[in-house]
Amino acid sequence: MTVRKPLSIYIHWGFCSSKCPYCDFASQKIPLDIDFSIWLKEYKRAIDFFIPFIEDYEVQSIFFGGGTPSLLPSYFIEELIKYISKHFHLRLNLEITLEANPSSSEAKKFRELRDIGVNRLSLGIQSLSDISLKFLGRIHTKEEGLEALKQGLKIFSNVSFDLIYALPEQSIKEWSKELSEALSYQSPHLSLYQLSIEEGSEFFRRKIETPKEELAARLYERTWEITTKAGLAAYEVSNHALSGYESIHNLSYWRYQDYLGIGPSAHGRFSINGKKHAFKQEKNPFIWLKLRNKNSEDIILTSQEIMEERAIMGLRTTEGVLSKYLPQKHLSSLLSEGLLEQRGPNICASQKGFLLIDLILSRLFSD
Ligand SMILES: C[S@@+](CC[C@H](N)C(=O)[O-])C[C@H]1O[C@@H](n2cnc3c(N)ncnc32)[C@H](O)[C@@H]1O
Ligand code: SF4
Repeated sequence: MTVRKPLSIYIHWGFCSSKCPYCDFASQKIPLDIDFSIWLKEYKRAIDFFIPFIEDYEVQSIFFGGGTPSLLPSYFIEELIKYISKHFHLRLNLEITLEANPSSSEAKKFRELRDIGVNRLSLGIQSLSDISLKFLGRIHTKEEGLEALKQGLKIFSNVSFDLIYALPEQSIKEWSKELSEALSYQSPHLSLYQLSIEEGSEFFRRKIETPKEELAARLYERTWEITTKAGLAAYEVSNHALSGYESIHNLSYWRYQDYLGIGPSAHGRFSINGKKHAFKQEKNPFIWLKLRNKNSEDIILTSQEIMEERAIMGLRTTEGVLSKYLPQKHLSSLLSEGLLEQRGPNICASQKGFLLIDLILSRLFSD
């Protein structure tokens, strides 16, 4: 029996109903006159580039991310799933995730999406407080968010939702209450992100300030305590799941497996003839649309770059990285200081270390 290597496919749809002030993802307001058939053809063309090289691979996950891919008509998503199914080897329990914003028009599509093969829903709830939602510039209320979540949980057996915390002025008590409410809806997966102020976002221009380091660390620790008690322990810095509901797609990044990035600004890591390539697609969606070869970058990574990337990704997870993949020079001092821990053949961050990942990485790779 041929054992094929796992492959994940990320498909980026970079348009949203409106642009949120904290977000610096490659996303912009959707044009009114968009012709989906032209875009579909170009997504297929972007996939075509990789087809000559995929014989040894088996697709384990497809992730429609954004932007807001729930704005896409269902036939568009169905066509892409069918196209991938036709040309690639697929794993039996293939995970197909779609990111959705919680508006009622999008929730109406959930059943259709499930019927065409989407089996995991990731909802951008962002907050369970109307005041915070307003601050975050979201165009939905708490009630609409919860309605979409209820619909999602009814229709999909695998649901995740995103919340943003560590907002300005947010107390530990307020966040603990919000998180406990979030857990009461019994979604098997949660992504909990501390608000970061990204250069290029409106929040950056408005000089919005987030909680100081010490409060941010306490909010983080509290988050881990509450989620662990509820059975949704963290398996990555910001991701929590019931055992067995960890995202196959996101784990593929953190385990440094190969993935294709399809769509404007998407990037991928994909091995051709034993060499790991870093691909990046053209960022501007309208230029991307016109290119025959959508890859604006195709770089072969050196063994040093591979080692660094593997550590950066792997140390974000509780399973960590195989010790043999890490530089050995500073490992023992990081272990003896309790920032890293050895678990069988793997090295992972300790609970204290998870708050200091950047420091750990800079020490691991220092001379
Ligand atoms: C690529 S976005 C797409 C989700 C979807 N468009 C939505 O907004 O509901 C993925 C997630 O990243 C998180 N995110 C984006 N910008 C962030 C920021 N500056 N700080 C913290 N989390 C952020 C949000 O929780 C968001 O749901
Ligand atoms: S957070 Fe989501 S909806 Fe808001 S701009 Fe970013 S990708 Fe679009």
